[in-house]
Amino acid sequence: MDTLILEIQKASSIETLAAIKTNAFGKQGALSSALRALASLPPEARKIEGERLNTLKKKALAALRKRQNELEIQAWEIRLSEEKIDVTFPPSFQREGRFHPLMFAMQEAVDLFLGMGFSVRTGPEIEKEYYNFDALNVGKDHPSRTSQDTFYFETVPYLLRTQTSPVQIRTLQSEEVPLQIVAPGRVYRSDHDRTHSPMFHQIEGLVVGEEVHMGQLKHTLETFLDLFFGKKIPIRFRPSFFPFTTPSAEVDILCRRHKGTLILGEGDEWLEVLGCGMVHPKVLIECGLDPEKVQGFAFGMGVERMAMLKYGIEDLRDFYQNDERWLSKIGFSCAL
Ligand code: DAH
Repeated sequence: MDTLILEIQKASSIETLAAIKTNAFGKQGALSSALRALASLPPEARKIEGERLNTLKKKALAALRKRQNELEIQAWEIRLSEEKIDVTFPPSFQREGRFHPLMFAMQEAVDLFLGMGFSVRTGPEIEKEYYNFDALNVGKDHPSRTSQDTFYFETVPYLLRTQTSPVQIRTLQSEEVPLQIVAPGRVYRSDHDRTHSPMFHQIEGLVVGEEVHMGQLKHTLETFLDLFFGKKIPIRFRPSFFPFTTPSAEVDILCRRHKGTLILGEGDEWLEVLGCGMVHPKVLIECGLDPEKVQGFAFGMGVERMAMLKYGIEDLRDFYQNDERWLSKIGFSCAL
């Protein structure tokens, strides 16, 4: 039985120690059985054997506690050495990400429309000629169709959408009126200079229902522009032409230039910010609606232009250079 003490002292892991303990002290354990067997011994032998067994039990329990303790300390030491951290190691400074000003402006504009009861729709950037032109009443020989402006795919009739207006058609053909939607997204035209990029962003707006009129269009855009630019901005509606609206207008905002910077809402210059109009009856008919019963207004704005005006950015190409220095200066770190 003294081998038990030796076994305990040599146990190499907590698990082995637990097994030794069960083997000796468990219900069927050797020591427990020997103690139980004492009852059948003659009194003299019982006394001697009883004392021996009890001493052994005490020694074994003490040895168990000691070994358990040693093994636990050992396990800790192994863990500490494996998980060591070097507190003198120089920290890596994590740089904070920022919102791109363009995405920030677009999200802000969309949020304002959501607040006015609009909901958001999107459409594909690889679009069919039908949605981008035909259904929008853009004539077969309209200049915007020629490949000078439009990126066509070799697989006819696909193209990169030149405007977000096709979302008007997709929505009207798949949903019930009345509806009130905005469609933000990327559009493409083969144009590239200080104020044009071959890929840019637009936000389209469409409201269709009974008795929708131009007064509502005007009020919606006035409210939006005041909120977006954060102050009362005088605007003017200038008659214009778009194939998918009639009458059509372009909206200009009042501004003045002061020592190279643009000040919005005052002065005597007008700057064009968006196109709009009453949805053309042909568009309504193409979407299965009766122009005698429902009317609509629509608008479309360039997000780059709106962001440039709002944040005083002068060269549109800055948006796409991915210059870290520019982005960290002009980007927005606050949550949307
Ligand atoms: N799609 C036009 C463009 O890209 C912008 C536009 C003008 C959209 C008038 C409209 C609108 O919905 O009514 O130039």
